[in-house]
Amino acid sequence: MEFIDRALLSSYPNAPASLRYTVYFVTFIGFINLIKLGYGTLDLINRHFIRRPKDLMKTYGGNDTWAVVTGGSDGIGEQFCKDLSKKGFNICILGRNEQKMKEKLDQIKKQSGKEIKTRYVVADFAKLTRISDYENIASQLRDIDIGMLLLNAGWTQATPFIDFTPENIEATVNINAVHPAYLSKVLVNQLNERKQRSAIIITSSGLGSIPASGFITYSASKAFAGFLGQGLNFELKKKMDVMTFECGETRTKLMGSRKSRMIVDDISRVTTGCLRDIGYESLTYGCLTHELAMIPLKIFPLRMLQSMMFKASQKTFAMLQKKEAEAKKQN
Ligand SMILES: NC(=O)c1ccc[n+]([C@@H]2O[C@H](COP(=O)([O-])OP(=O)(O)OC[C@H]3O[C@@H](n4cnc5c(N)ncnc54)[C@H](OP(=O)(O)O)[C@@H]3O)[C@@H](O)[C@H]2O)c1
Repeated sequence: MEFIDRALLSSYPNAPASLRYTVYFVTFIGFINLIKLGYGTLDLINRHFIRRPKDLMKTYGGNDTWAVVTGGSDGIGEQFCKDLSKKGFNICILGRNEQKMKEKLDQIKKQSGKEIKTRYVVADFAKLTRISDYENIASQLRDIDIGMLLLNAGWTQATPFIDFTPENIEATVNINAVHPAYLSKVLVNQLNERKQRSAIIITSSGLGSIPASGFITYSASKAFAGFLGQGLNFELKKKMDVMTFECGETRTKLMGSRKSRMIVDDISRVTTGCLRDIGYESLTYGCLTHELAMIPLKIFPLRMLQSMMFKASQKTFAMLQKKEAEAKKQN
């Protein structure tokens, strides 16, 4: 207190007690925030540059262990499959397009450089709404040792809520929220009963960290998925490492031709950043670019962010409508 009196209040020897206590309080809050900032910076440096990732095969693998990846036929999921196959995991993809999964699994096997097995299960998550639908999927996975489960499939369209079709609302909720909850549920005992630890990674999104207007169905369903992962991290910690992956903008077909300085073109940077944190964290943003891209979402006023996102969504929707109208004219 004496230090604050000398440094800040020396010019006001007769300052009233109320001013004195306000200055003490503000200084205290500033000090706490300074400590938080210092700790946050050291933690970031440690996670991105110093700490060694877990050996995933040693931690979650066995003799004949599988990584099961939903939406492994494209984009980030496909890259997860490539990364894990190179570590020696057998790969199982869950997706809706059988031919595409077969082709991608052939490529993954060839590129892995390991003697791995592959398989797939056909599942259109947009249409699966009941836990019994997911029990049917789980029954096709009972005979394999699942060491890692990556709940990655995701989809949406940038459209204001009022213009979003009922079918698209349903698909967005089913794919992004229902699929991670129900698939974790029907597989959790199988993973829990293994001798080794198991891992579950749930891919959420930076848009799941705030109520993102213009994308609100996606944002809300990703918030659900993100909470699910972080909550399960605690409940299942005895035998499992569960982590939410709040992914940032990545150049995949989901992103389309959208331009932004924070889009990461090299998908392997995104997946490496995520896999680096499994076993340590309950939540990751993956690579450094995506972690830095989260800063504005945390410090800018929510109203301002919502206004920007809503405008972007309206613009994209208008473009989509124009394209559709032109296509109709041509037919
Ligand atoms: N890209 C980004 O900027 C970004 C940002 C934040 C979060 N994410 C999240 O990251 C995850 C991966 O996205 P991505 O960017 O890699 O997108 P992507 O390239 O479009 O890949 C999405 C994957 O999910 C599958 N999928 C989509 N709808 C499905 C359905 N109804 N049933 C079964 N599978 C379905 C796709 O299958 P098909 O091959 O049949 O299409 C594909 O394999 C998603 O959860 C997404 O929300 C992405």
